[in-house]
Amino acid sequence: MRVGIFDSGIGGLNVLKEVLKKYPSGEYIYYGDTKNLPYGNKSKEELLELSKNILDFFTLKKVDIIIIACGTVSSNCFYELKKISKISIYDIITPTISYLKSLEKEKIAIFGTKRTIDSHIFSKNIEKEVLEIATKEFVPMIEEDKYDLEIIKKYANMIKDYDVLVLGCTHYPIIKDKLKKYLQDNILIVDMGVCLLDNIKIKESNNLKIELYFSKIDNTLKENIKKIIKYDYKIYEV
Ligand code: DGL
Repeated sequence: MRVGIFDSGIGGLNVLKEVLKKYPSGEYIYYGDTKNLPYGNKSKEELLELSKNILDFFTLKKVDIIIIACGTVSSNCFYELKKISKISIYDIITPTISYLKSLEKEKIAIFGTKRTIDSHIFSKNIEKEVLEIATKEFVPMIEEDKYDLEIIKKYANMIKDYDVLVLGCTHYPIIKDKLKKYLQDNILIVDMGVCLLDNIKIKESNNLKIELYFSKIDNTLKENIKKIIKYDYKIYEV
């Protein structure tokens, strides 16, 4: 089974990393739209347009399923994409919401991109105390691999009395350890890539195959990928 996974950049690789833990012999085709990054401030129309192009790419690559490994596209465009996609398509927010509903914890903080937070997808669908915060500096910091710890601390301080923190953008697992330094010890940190695993079943092939496609490649991107994906892969600019 050929699995297509996409995001604006390296964030979705964190999802691929989780998928690989459970299905280490799959066939994966990843698309990161680095040329159009970040997605987090784009309009719904722009996000739909970009996502449709990626769906066409996956059709050419003959994938069997598509995973939207992007919180921004999942929260704004999933239903439209599901309607038009001839290939089975999964989003990353639905399984996260199911998981949050099942938790016996009431105070949930969400960090996400502006567009994800503006959609209020979490607070609309979860009847608990949900605080949604747009952490707009995070994605550029992560993609550029240059961190301002004061900014990370500022956001961490805003959720001091919360039980749960949802990393509502797939880029954010990369700064999980940095965030942890400023968060209370007992907070539960939720990674959407882990939640997804309860929702999908992947038929593995005999051998692992990973192809990574990006719309723009530079050295920082190559170094970032190496830190996340510890298996062999081929990388292409398209
Ligand atoms: N990783 C994406 C998300 O989960 C997109 C981040 C961005 O490009 O702003 O929202």
